[in-house]
Amino acid sequence: MGKIALIGAAGQIGTPLSLLCKAVNTKAKVSGYLPDNGGLKKALAGADIVVVTAGIARKPGMTRDDLFKTNASIIRDIFSEVASTCPNAISCVVTNPVNSTVPVAAETLKKAGVFEPRRLFGVTTLDVVRASTFAAHALGGNIEPKQLRVPVIGGHSGATILPLYSQAQPVVQLSDEQLAPVINRVQFGGDEIVKSKQGAGSATTCMAYAGFRFVKALMSAQSGQSVTEEAYVYLPGIPGGRELAAELGVDYFAVKVQIGQKGATKVLPIGDLSGNEKKLLEAALCELKTNIATGVSFMSV
Ligand code: LMR
Repeated sequence: MGKIALIGAAGQIGTPLSLLCKAVNTKAKVSGYLPDNGGLKKALAGADIVVVTAGIARKPGMTRDDLFKTNASIIRDIFSEVASTCPNAISCVVTNPVNSTVPVAAETLKKAGVFEPRRLFGVTTLDVVRASTFAAHALGGNIEPKQLRVPVIGGHSGATILPLYSQAQPVVQLSDEQLAPVINRVQFGGDEIVKSKQGAGSATTCMAYAGFRFVKALMSAQSGQSVTEEAYVYLPGIPGGRELAAELGVDYFAVKVQIGQKGATKVLPIGDLSGNEKKLLEAALCELKTNIATGVSFMSV
């Protein structure tokens, strides 16, 4: 089995995520490093998968974009080290605002001449988890959330999060009026938690669970299984993505991807959308374009 480097392991997401990655009495060995004295390099050396949760979290009244100023430099510095120490690792970015931090990571890797789009993912699994959970609640508990598959596309922030209930499996029997508050809750579920924590941060354990689910999928893919997951990726660099990027007018987008041993192998089509989803997609793309430009321009100065 390979090595997972969890950058930000001592933080509020990193701690439960570390526990999930290392179930107590298993063969896996754990080493911890502090960032000083080359700790980051040591943590990354020989890594097959890098998971980045480092950075600050939101406080009430803040949007994910408000985190950018601080978290962008953190991501840039981590990915400069990824570029020199483990350029072939598969990297997963959890640090918000994901819509902009993934472009920062990509631009950093590009500058170092080692960017491979198939190996860079923004983790949007929490939106997928929320989409099935909240719909199952709205259906009155007649279905287990994990039995419900709801594709979620777009990005990981407010209106950029677009759950596609028209494609849910099994079919979700809710009218547009019943779905509207469910969609809104998926888009703003993170804000609900920020508010309830009253200044103590944002989602931690559910984000750790979602991050773990994604890492587990990557590990299954690395062991040879065929895996399909939603993630926020650089479309033009993945087979099937160039066409979608041209159609949508964005290079970064959360979409279902096939993942193999060396990373993403294919971007899957977004499929047919309902009239309401088409409208929501327009709004998502509008916001996403600004978020992406923020990330790219941070690295061009
Ligand atoms: C979430 O969706 O809960 C996370 O992205 C954290 C946040 O700031 O909302």
